[in-house]
Amino acid sequence: MIFAANFKMNHTRASTQQYLNSLQKGLDSRDMQDDEVFVFPPSTALCSWNGSITIGAQNAYYQINGAYTGEIGLEQLQEFDIDTILIGHSERRSILGESQEFVSKKFQWFKEHNFRIIYCIGEPLELREKGDEAVAQFLWEQFNGIDINYDRLIVAYEPVWAIGTGLSAKSEQIANTHRELRKKISSPILYGGSVKPENVKEILSIENVDGVLVGSASLKADSFLEMIDKAK
Ligand code: 13P
Repeated sequence: MIFAANFKMNHTRASTQQYLNSLQKGLDSRDMQDDEVFVFPPSTALCSWNGSITIGAQNAYYQINGAYTGEIGLEQLQEFDIDTILIGHSERRSILGESQEFVSKKFQWFKEHNFRIIYCIGEPLELREKGDEAVAQFLWEQFNGIDINYDRLIVAYEPVWAIGTGLSAKSEQIANTHRELRKKISSPILYGGSVKPENVKEILSIENVDGVLVGSASLKADSFLEMIDKAK
């Protein structure tokens, strides 16, 4: 199973180091043979890591380096041997205004550089209220320009209305959506949106759910480890 922690704009460099040390210690004392653990800290806390945790970038620009004020590129990621990135997160699409065209350019570029890409999709509430068919159509549009056969792809389905609200999607909604995605996607499919220790086991028992992408409940190493224990 895949357990991914997205810190968003939380944690400092110092607190990330503490977190990684506790998490790694916790993982080393568990049987994690069939699991993968990712942590996406903010860019100021990116670091090399000598352990089973994979550190990934929440975002980067699709160039090696250059005149892109405020961005980081391949050179800054390579300094820390980072070759994993989140692309298409709904907060970047809606708050930072990333269009599908921009997201797909980024995808293409990081694919060319052989990155592991966690590609995020998810529908807003208005779409969910229209039913499964409308949701499916919306989600497939979020794959425009994306190579769904890329062998280092992981898809994360995160309904926008379930992110940070405490209100996870219902099991049936997750099952139906993941089944729809599985028609064309053979890579792992994660669910994200208010995943917490209380619901992680149920969510991970749903067919076609290969892991979770967790925000708030991942911010404390103990809580993240508790989720791993509950799931296994
Ligand atoms: P929450 O777990 O806080 O709902 O966030 C989910 C998310 O957006 C992970 O990328």
